[in-house]
This record gives sequence, C-alpha cells and structure tokens, in this order.
Amino acid sequence: MFASTPINLEDVLHCIGVAVQAPSGANKQPWQFMVIDDARVKEKLRAKCEEQEKRFHETAGTSFKQWLESKRITWRKPFLTEAPVLLAVFSNQAMPYATESTWLAIGYFLLALEEKSLSTMTYTPSYPEKVRAALDVDEPYKLETIFPIGFSADSSPKAHRHPAESFIHKNVWKTKS
Ligand SMILES: Cc1cc2nc3c(=O)[nH]c(=O)nc-3n(C[C@H](O)[C@H](O)[C@H](O)COP(=O)(O)O)c2cc1C
Repeated sequence: MFASTPINLEDVLHCIGVAVQAPSGANKQPWQFMVIDDARVKEKLRAKCEEQEKRFHETAGTSFKQWLESKRITWRKPFLTEAPVLLAVFSNQAMPYATESTWLAIGYFLLALEEKSLSTMTYTPSYPEKVRAALDVDEPYKLETIFPIGFSADSSPKAHRHPAESFIHKNVWKTKS
C-alpha cells in the first residue's frame, strides 16, 4: 500500500544510477529501465497486468489457489495505479547472463531506494511477454519486474528472515533442518 504523496523523480533516477554500477556478464550491461509516472500509462499497464493475472488465477491448481488465498494474493494489482511512480525493468536476452546481471542491478537499486526512504515491492507479472508487448517493447527484451515506488502506507512489520547462520556452510555441506 502506497501513500499518494508525490515522490521526487530525481531520487528514482539516482537509484537507477546506483543500479547501473552493478557488475554484469562480460560487462554488457544488459538492463533497461522504463520510468512511468503518467497516469494513463499506469492505467494501461494495470489493465494489461490484471487481465493476465486473471488468466493465471483461473488456471491455478486447487492447492496453489488455496496458498494464494492464504496470502491474500488476488488478480487485483491496485499498487500499479496507486504508487506515484512505476519502474519496469527489462533485460536484453541477446546478451550473456542477461537475467542474472539485471537482477544484480535490481539488488543495488533496492538498497539505494531504501536509503532514500522510499518503498517498493517486487512485482513479477504473470505472462510478462504480454505486458512487455503492451508497453511497445520488442524482443529480445524481457520484462523482469515492475516496481511500484512511493512512500509506504503499510504498517505491517518486515517479513521474517531466517538467521544468516541457517544459510551458511563452513567447509562441508550440512543439511539444515
Ligand atoms: C524475484 C521476486 C519476485 C517476486 N514476485 C512477487 C510478485 O509477483 N507478487 C508479489 O506480491 N510479491 C512478489 N515478490 C515479493 C516477495 O513476496 C517479498 O519480497 C517477500 O515476501 C519478502 O517480503 P518483503 O519484501 O516485504 O520483506 C517477489 C520478490 C522477489 C525477490
């Protein structure tokens, strides 16, 4: 949930500037960022995403549907019009390690965003190729994710993280319980 308070677009551009400092396969820098603050474009994007999410939810199996319901995840994606700015991130699939490198840049972006006291959530649309086409972006670009960006209006605490030790293996692989 995002406050309707406008954000400084310069802050988002700064964070993209941090993101593009990330290392990439063969230094090909395979990422592209589309900054969206036009209400009409946001509405068009939301409509396309929700159309695809409906399709996804209709085809989900029973146990997956139950899991989605337990997480209160529906086909509705209101944050796509409520957040003041959206950032669609693409990778150029003609380049080596395009997806890995782009997500590394995304990691840099997320930390920079937090330093600017801005909030987001990582939305990975269902059937991203349909959403990419709606944005008039051609192959070989792949839509990796869309970030709604704004000031948070969500008071829920940060989701639990397991302690680092539960992921660390020293010299030998130990199966973690
Ligand atoms: C690769 C990736 C894909 C994700 N895709 C979605 C998504 O499509 N929809 C969604 O609601 N959250 C998505 N998330 C958000 C995660 O559910 C969320 O980051 C996680 O539950 C931890 O919560 P936090 O980010 O609030 O700490 C995604 C996160 C990552 C890293």
